[in-house]
Amino acid sequence: MKSIGVFDSGVGGLTVVKELIRQLPNENIVYFGDTARVPYGIKSRETVIRFSIENILFLLKQDVKLICVACNTASSFALPVIKNYFRAPIIGVITPGVREAVYASQNKRIGVIGTKGTIKSRTYEAEIKQLDPKAKVVTASCPLFVPFVEEGWLSGEVVLDVARGYLKPLKAAGVDTVILGCTHYPLLKSVIQQVLGKDVILIDSAKQVACEIKKILASEDLLNRGKGGKRSFYVSDNPEWFSGLAQRFLGSQLKNVKKVNNV
Ligand code: DGL
Repeated sequence: MKSIGVFDSGVGGLTVVKELIRQLPNENIVYFGDTARVPYGIKSRETVIRFSIENILFLLKQDVKLICVACNTASSFALPVIKNYFRAPIIGVITPGVREAVYASQNKRIGVIGTKGTIKSRTYEAEIKQLDPKAKVVTASCPLFVPFVEEGWLSGEVVLDVARGYLKPLKAAGVDTVILGCTHYPLLKSVIQQVLGKDVILIDSAKQVACEIKKILASEDLLNRGKGGKRSFYVSDNPEWFSGLAQRFLGSQLKNVKKVNNV
């Protein structure tokens, strides 16, 4: 039985896996976290494209029927280039979040936060404008958010202070909707909401991504008809670190994370 392949630069893509398990409990999932080369957020476009192709080649060897690029940086830089190279459907995390944000925004002022790479690529901006040319898009990179989440700093004055600084331009522009354009940011939702105010809608694309994958599998008649999916987790380095963080991102513990040399 074929699996859904998911890759991310590290542990963050488990937020997408969590939603996939919730919405598609009978699907097999193979996850690859490129922990040897994380973070992608500060790497160049060429490098992120190369890493993404290597990760996809690894997943294709695991007999997958669809690939989800669960990393926003890889989706921003690599997906537009690589999606035509492979026969398997490849789904990124950008378009599903953009669709929801454009639909949700009333004042058509949309904020996007992500890694330096994601913001520099301007992929979110381009996709929002394509759906609604009149929308005003305000972006900000929040590079300290990833280490905060990985170190378990999900609240407190230091995090709030940093968030206030990063989110200032979004507040000043009066955005009513903000896309959490990085795998790690949903874990800082309460801090971000506190800074932006309770009326601002925060878009966590994981739910939409899983929903989109479900639709594609159904329309191509690829849904697993058996009961209870299997999940396998691979990393390129440090399986102990990955397992330790999995609880935070996935909500459950992970045993049997395998280290592979995929490159
Ligand atoms: N997974 C990355 C993203 O969503 C964040 C971590 C990294 O920089 O690699 O952009």
